[in-house]
Amino acid sequence: MTDPLTGQLLGTPEETREAGKGLAQELGPGDVLALTGELGAGKTHLCQGIVAGLGSDAGVTSPTFGLVHEYLDGRLPVYHFDFYRIEAAEELVELGWDDYLERGGVVLVEWADRFPDWLPEESQWWHLCHDQESGGRRLQSRP
Ligand SMILES: Nc1ncnc2c1ncn2[C@@H]1O[C@H](COP(=O)(O)OP(=O)(O)O)[C@@H](O)[C@H]1O
Ligand SMILES: [Mg+2]
Repeated sequence: MTDPLTGQLLGTPEETREAGKGLAQELGPGDVLALTGELGAGKTHLCQGIVAGLGSDAGVTSPTFGLVHEYLDGRLPVYHFDFYRIEAAEELVELGWDDYLERGGVVLVEWADRFPDWLPEESQWWHLCHDQESGGRRLQSRP
């Protein structure tokens, strides 16, 4: 059950991946998902579910500094960014950020709040956080 204020409780890493698979069903060409939440909140697990839900067999890991991971074998291409170690917007330009937004795929961005101005207006913002009580995670849509 998803309450708009408290979000969806994800008890295990597997449940986080399942939530990602659910999100994937709604995605279309050009969609941008801006993911926020501290280290270990489950952003990469959510991305794993999204990529799997789009039908890719790839194993998803966090993109390291200066890289974007591309998953091209699913229903839509996925371009997976992680802004955590990006220091300056020029690095995004060098990565080809603008071009990726135009490719008609799905763009996933971990730590999107590090450069919020670079996310398109129509991006879908999702926040993950630790749920102290259960030890699990919570997923909230941030309009
Ligand atoms: N409900 C949960 N959902 C996702 N990860 C969880 C959950 N419970 C525990 N974990 C653990 O938390 C970590 C989340 O890692 P990751 O998805 O890489 O987070 P992030 O990308 O936000 O830093 C993993 O070590 C995972 O095993
Ligand atoms: Mg990550």
